[in-house]
Amino acid sequence: MNKNIYHRYVKLPFEHKFPDCFKAKPENMRGENWHEWCATREHWDERFVDWLKEYGLKPSNVCEAFYNGPNGGGLPMHNDAPTLNNSSNINFTWGPQDSIVRWYKVKDESLIQTERDNTDYHKEVYFKDVDIDIPVDKFYHAEVEDCDVVHEAVISQPSLLNVGQLHSTHNFNTNEPRWTLSYHLLTIKDNTHIQFEDALDLFKDLAYESN
Ligand SMILES: [Fe+2]
Repeated sequence: MNKNIYHRYVKLPFEHKFPDCFKAKPENMRGENWHEWCATREHWDERFVDWLKEYGLKPSNVCEAFYNGPNGGGLPMHNDAPTLNNSSNINFTWGPQDSIVRWYKVKDESLIQTERDNTDYHKEVYFKDVDIDIPVDKFYHAEVEDCDVVHEAVISQPSLLNVGQLHSTHNFNTNEPRWTLSYHLLTIKDNTHIQFEDALDLFKDLAYESN
């Protein structure tokens, strides 16, 4: 079987605080049953920032917050990088214990569609007051029928996720909303987004595959 290059749970020495911005359902949601925005530093947990430093990493200033509504909410397929690569994040999720992230491989690369984060929402709300330090103006998506599902993981614990590949989120079976804080991990040395295999090496004693 191919090695899973998409997801690991990560054992951390603390429990991330519940961000204040997750206390109420977002207004003016971007999607039918989902929303995304940037979480400013007061919503981060400084223990996580200190912990990352021990591994030569730091969070990008672009820290994303996601709301997946109950009964089927979820983010549509996308990747979080300007190419299809293995850029990796650590996510903290609150809410149901059975929501998932699903990864896809497009059957034919010519079927990939390019999207641009240059809408008024992105310019005026999403990245407002954020000192952007990762590429944010281009990402990919594809039609589900043009892809094979290559991996799926229940997100019930802090997780290392490959966000450079196409993925979507699903909050299928519950009346509870799902809230996620997603830290893009940059190396302190050269400010590049860490790739999944390198993150696995760094976190080899902490990362585990099955729950
Ligand atoms: Fe994503």
